[in-house]
Amino acid sequence: MRVVIQENYKKMCAWAADYIAGRINAKKDGKPFVLGLPTGSSPLGVYAELIRKNKAGEVSFKNVVTFNMDEYVGLPREHEQSYWHFMWSNFFDHIDIPHENVNILNGMSDDLEGECAAYEAKIASYGGIDLFMGGIGVDGHLAFNEPFTSLNSVTGIRVLTSDTLIVNSRFFDNDPAKVPTRALSVGVKTVTDSKEVLVLINGHNKARALANTVEGAVSQKWTASALQLHPAAIIACDEPACGELTVDTYKYFLDVEKDQRL
Ligand code: GLP
Repeated sequence: MRVVIQENYKKMCAWAADYIAGRINAKKDGKPFVLGLPTGSSPLGVYAELIRKNKAGEVSFKNVVTFNMDEYVGLPREHEQSYWHFMWSNFFDHIDIPHENVNILNGMSDDLEGECAAYEAKIASYGGIDLFMGGIGVDGHLAFNEPFTSLNSVTGIRVLTSDTLIVNSRFFDNDPAKVPTRALSVGVKTVTDSKEVLVLINGHNKARALANTVEGAVSQKWTASALQLHPAAIIACDEPACGELTVDTYKYFLDVEKDQRL
């Protein structure tokens, strides 16, 4: 696992956007680049930078196919807190991606299990995901894979924990009772089956999650810790998120990253 420590959120986002654009531009076999994407506040700066790069002609999304991590159950697309709405307003509406290349789980489906199975099958039809970008929750959840979700899980229905309802209530009038209690989510295995994984972890409130993800045991208690077993996982983080790493760990990653070229 690589841990790329940047001084602040802005630099973390710039680094991640450079990395993603570089990977898209390096794809030369004519097949689409398959990109997994998250919602949340963490990736907002990355999306802004990718939009800038797209408008500046530094990267194109014409041959990129995307799969989003998750979606609430029971929120229509038009709801301003649906992840569909989030993705279109913060990213897809501003780049040159063909509309048919965007895949987002439908939390309004009459057949939620069928929806999840079809999503996994569609990912497989592209030969898997080239690069999955993610964020994590304060409890270390990856996508909506809450603590104690199997590390072998695939796309399915998830019940959200009280912790997550409270944290996400900031988007629902600060009222946890207004947050949908279920979501559709790719599994931990869906993410770790990707060729590369890039997870963004920023801010003081993620310090405990970062320490457990990187230094803790691989455990379903911190589902993001499954990244330790991935051959090409990168965590991009900012200084405030490093607050609970041991000094040795912190120094180690600064040291080994000195000579890396993206
Ligand atoms: C939600 C999403 C996760 C996201 C997490 C963190 O729970 N389901 O995919 O990683 O929030 O969000 P933020 O980046 O706003 O801290």
